[in-house]
Amino acid sequence: MTETLDIKITKTNHSRLQETDFNNLQFGKTFSDHMFVADYENGEWKNFQIVPYGEVSFSPAISALHYGQSFFEGIKAYKHADGQVSVFRPDKNAARFNKSAERLCMPQLPEEIFVQSIAAVVDVDRDWVPSKAHHSMYIRPFMFATDPFLGVQPSSTYKFMVLLGPVGPYFSKTLRVKVETFFTRAAEGGMGYAKSSGNYGGAMLAGKRATEQGFDQVIWTDAKNHEYVEEMGAANVMFVLDGVLITPSTRDTILDGVTRDTVLTLAREWGMPVEERRISVAEIIEGAKTGKLTDAFGAGTAATIAPVGSISYNGEEYFLIDPKEREFSQKVLKELDAIKYGRVADTHGWNYLV
Ligand code: COI
Repeated sequence: MTETLDIKITKTNHSRLQETDFNNLQFGKTFSDHMFVADYENGEWKNFQIVPYGEVSFSPAISALHYGQSFFEGIKAYKHADGQVSVFRPDKNAARFNKSAERLCMPQLPEEIFVQSIAAVVDVDRDWVPSKAHHSMYIRPFMFATDPFLGVQPSSTYKFMVLLGPVGPYFSKTLRVKVETFFTRAAEGGMGYAKSSGNYGGAMLAGKRATEQGFDQVIWTDAKNHEYVEEMGAANVMFVLDGVLITPSTRDTILDGVTRDTVLTLAREWGMPVEERRISVAEIIEGAKTGKLTDAFGAGTAATIAPVGSISYNGEEYFLIDPKEREFSQKVLKELDAIKYGRVADTHGWNYLV
């Protein structure tokens, strides 16, 4: 039986809700009034609290800062037309949270603590969940090591926190992407499958260089020979090639994305051929040349379905058809929205009502 979490709630006496401009939200810049905090000490999670969003203090020697024992998740909550609020598939993120924790020698967080803490803080700040189309509340659960100790070893204390912030679309345009053939996001035996903070910091230089060259994102390739496609920016990548939905199979270099899994599930239910496998850069470029590549998009919680307009490889740019004419990604985006905003029956049990 699931026990209800005993959470101490301290509400702010100055809500920022009225002074927040919901028409000009920049991803990750606006935070709601409250946040969730818990501590891990002596082998157990304790001190479950919802407090006003604000600064936290800790020693400058915490191992999260020095050795990167830190990771996170990304989830969204949606407001339905009838005012109900639901969180999309938090159980999937809970499972991945614990995979990340294991990889970084950090403690497991029971699924019920993960899900209940999120539900509780979303409930307190439910008025912050936007009701505008394509808007949602981004939920950022994260864990970091708090031992004030510079020896290189797993910390014995940790914090688990959840931040919330209203967001609009992450990308506002069709993406011009390049195949990255120098930098590597993840290598075999590494931690690409974990949502460790270092994966994102380590990816920034490639992103910066790509932006300087006029691109919006990179398509990551394998660490050995840069021959196979892996991910795109901070999202999974998917293609429709010759009528088949293809995406790199999950392995230790690939994040097991919740949007990825959701898209694959829907595609299979629609009878679309689906392949999770290694995908060579060569076959994607060949498909772009011959017109057999009819769709390409990033799939992620923040990004949702982010259409790729062109792919550059070795100095050549290959253009794809107009995103509005793409059958699959248009259909899947529409269906995803319909499910998340409660416009169709949630036959998969993906919406966790708060
Ligand atoms: C998410 O989709 O939640 C992500 O993790 C991407 C984020 C780093 C912006």
